[in-house]
Amino acid sequence: MSSHDPKTSHEQVPAGMAMPNEDVLSGAENAPDDAASYIAPVSRHAATMGDPNAKAILEVKDLKMYFPVKSSGIIRRTIGHVQAVDGVSFQVPAGGSLGLVGESGCGKSTTGRLITRLYEPTAGTINFDGQDISKTSARGLKPLRREIQMIFQDPYTSLNPRHSVGSIIGAPLEIHNILPKKQILPRVQELLEIVGLNPEHYNRYPHEFSGGQRQRIGIARALTLQPKLLVADEPVSALDVSIQAQVINLLQDLQDEFGIAFLFVAHDLAVVRHFCPEVAVMYLGKIVEIADRETLYNRPNHPYTQALLSAVPDVKQAAIGGRRERIRLEGDVPSPINPPSGCRFRTRCPLAQEICARVEPPLLQIGKRHKVACHFAGELGKHPDKPVTAGLLGVDDSGTPDPGASPSVDVGNEPGFADTWFDLERRTMASA
Ligand SMILES: Nc1ncnc2c1ncn2[C@@H]1O[C@H](COP(=O)(O)OP(=O)(O)O)[C@@H](O)[C@H]1O
Ligand code: SF4
Ligand SMILES: [Mg+2]
Repeated sequence: MSSHDPKTSHEQVPAGMAMPNEDVLSGAENAPDDAASYIAPVSRHAATMGDPNAKAILEVKDLKMYFPVKSSGIIRRTIGHVQAVDGVSFQVPAGGSLGLVGESGCGKSTTGRLITRLYEPTAGTINFDGQDISKTSARGLKPLRREIQMIFQDPYTSLNPRHSVGSIIGAPLEIHNILPKKQILPRVQELLEIVGLNPEHYNRYPHEFSGGQRQRIGIARALTLQPKLLVADEPVSALDVSIQAQVINLLQDLQDEFGIAFLFVAHDLAVVRHFCPEVAVMYLGKIVEIADRETLYNRPNHPYTQALLSAVPDVKQAAIGGRRERIRLEGDVPSPINPPSGCRFRTRCPLAQEICARVEPPLLQIGKRHKVACHFAGELGKHPDKPVTAGLLGVDDSGTPDPGASPSVDVGNEPGFADTWFDLERRTMASA
């Protein structure tokens, strides 16, 4: 499919569409060798600050999306499911931003599309501004479309090439009957100015703009209805590195000015660190670690997070908090149709032991704002020999249920953080 094919519907990005630059682990292998090109905090921008006590505008609990896999032939039976998202829970504070990172195929875009309700979830709840929207009908979703908007990764395919920029940005105002016709053009011009484009260019077409400018048009379109939450799905990864920082700064300005909350999906850990005070790491449909920025980047406890951070190329290491020794992961990511038993990361994990194949590790809170799903959670070089979870789960060290034990945790599905947590070193509960 060509991005310039006028027959193609461009306003809706098809599900599962292959996006450029997406399959590179944290941009590692293809990153340019130019020290100036990484996203560094730029002059007046302090990295986005978060208010940990802000009320959650979005609370997602145990969200699942299973896509059916059909047999070939005339009678197409369902023969399995792609477990694209399998029980994720998190919160996004009002006016704040949560980063969602992980390799290609781990379920980031599907999570974003569930929240914008481009998909109906298989299970779970999506509480937005006090209302569960997970099962809302298409009709009921219309007002919601004003409040939650999405910025897509690819500015070449997400704008309809046959429509002028003015009609792309102005369309939502017309559809939602927000402004009388004659006020639409001035509003479009205002939006063009807000995103740093010439307001006189409203009658031009997308092909007349560069990639960075097109992404600005996509951002203006997302802003038209003054949303409370923006789902930004890899908003800069299709752009030249020299343009990425400008677009990130624009998003930050918009957040400051309009108090918009972000679910910020990306595989580039440097961009996420800069933008998001809190970050969740996904692997094969599940969150394996979630923490505030300082903790996640300086003291990751999950072997996958540790490997992901170590895979960031040298040129970007400064932007993620310092140089790290490379940890090479063996093998490929398993199929989400038939994920490994127990811990999904076990087929690639250098620390895996018997319990990992038998018991799924709970997403255990181990700090004030830190959760991790690993039986052997610990900082790099300090992973314990025995599973830290065995006593909590009522199993022995190999994962066999212990009949006399009384388990005290379930697989952690509560969004957000509690006031007490499990102290890994002392193996007791702790609080601030
Ligand atoms: N519409 C769909 N139908 C079937 N499988 C899908 C669909 N969309 C995504 N998937 C699969 O779900 C998994 C997660 O995909 P995705 O959410 O796009 O991951 P990411 O954005 O992290 O790269 C992948 O295995 C992908 O192939
Ligand atoms: S639970 Fe086991 S396999 Fe999973 S990340 Fe931890 S050590 Fe590795
Ligand atoms: Mg994606």
